Amino acid sequence: METFIRTITGSGEDDRIYREAADVIRSGGLVAFPTETVYGLGGDGLDPDAARKIYEAKGRPSDNPLILHVAAFSQIPPLVREIPEKARRLMEAFWPGPLTIILPKSDLVPSETTGGLSTVALRMPDHPVAQAFLKAADCPIAAPSANLSGRPSPTNARDVWEDLNGRIPLILDGGESRIGLESTIVDLSGPVPTLLRPGFYSLQQVKRVLGTAAVDPAVFGALPADVRPKAPGMKYRHYAPNVPLILVEGEDRERAETIQRLADPAKKTAVLVTEETLPLYGDAADLLLIPLGSRRYPEGIAHRLFTTLRALDHLQLDLVYSETFEEGPMGMAVMNRLRKAAGFHIIGGKDKETDNE
Ligand code: TXA
Ligand code: MG
Repeated sequence: METFIRTITGSGEDDRIYREAADVIRSGGLVAFPTETVYGLGGDGLDPDAARKIYEAKGRPSDNPLILHVAAFSQIPPLVREIPEKARRLMEAFWPGPLTIILPKSDLVPSETTGGLSTVALRMPDHPVAQAFLKAADCPIAAPSANLSGRPSPTNARDVWEDLNGRIPLILDGGESRIGLESTIVDLSGPVPTLLRPGFYSLQQVKRVLGTAAVDPAVFGALPADVRPKAPGMKYRHYAPNVPLILVEGEDRERAETIQRLADPAKKTAVLVTEETLPLYGDAADLLLIPLGSRRYPEGIAHRLFTTLRALDHLQLDLVYSETFEEGPMGMAVMNRLRKAAGFHIIGGKDKETDNE
């Protein structure tokens, strides 16, 4: 299959491109499109065959449910059993925007889309290209991130092409995604609102709206083999570069020393560092130091994380170490992705020598 990339330019041509995209969706095909978080791989969310195609194109296990994307509030009621007050409050506070809400699904939503679950994930993106595409398609669009399963999520059309060229007919190019990490997921299908995946909207912001919210244990670490995570996607190795990645905890100076001590000159090694910690590596000439940004601006680190993880694959490295980050509002999302990218391979830190791969 030939894959076309159409660039949205803000000119009169755009309407024709959105019509083309809508035609692909209506004929049961898939379209990759930009959102403010990452690029999505969209298909008709009410068509079981489109869901099957999405799983096939990504090489994704079909028990991993998809998020339904909508352009308007009026599209929500038919998709769910009811809209609880808490959901209404979250939607008002954060939609359109990088928040996904999980509710019990209606019969209209095929179980192929929800990976067999009785709940459905809903999101209203605020990216202008996503909105125009969703309006043109005129149906809820099921979309996971537009990467091959296990790879870092794509934050531009080139990354989508790298993974899905030849597997899908159309990519809409709307430039670089603003946030660069996937949406915050809040599960409202149970008795206690639960954060399943941290993102741009923080736990603190969600709590401010809802009063309380729990955090699913899968956000912080690897679950024991016999525990089923609430978000099935949490159990898969994800975001991983092809080269082994190890996280190093501890205080800035101590961490830089640990890395320099462990580094094997016979192995080509890179370290993901920050502007603040870069000088601590002195003249470690045999280490490739890759700055992710400034610790004072975690949004910038989030924005560069997936692009950096993808770039590692092109550097013929043997090993990569990464510094860790404080679990602040944005840091929690960054650490969640880094831990998964590293397959939970973590060393260093105060009183623990955890290596629970
Ligand atoms: O920012 C985003 O959310 C991006 C853009 C494209 O919108 N989408 C995205 O989709 O990240 P995906 O499929 O890569 O991640 C969705 C996550 C998975 O971990 C999945 O298991 C979880 O959401 N999920 C989806 N439906 C669920 C449900 N009904 N219950 C629990 N978890 C669900
Ligand atoms: Mg994904």
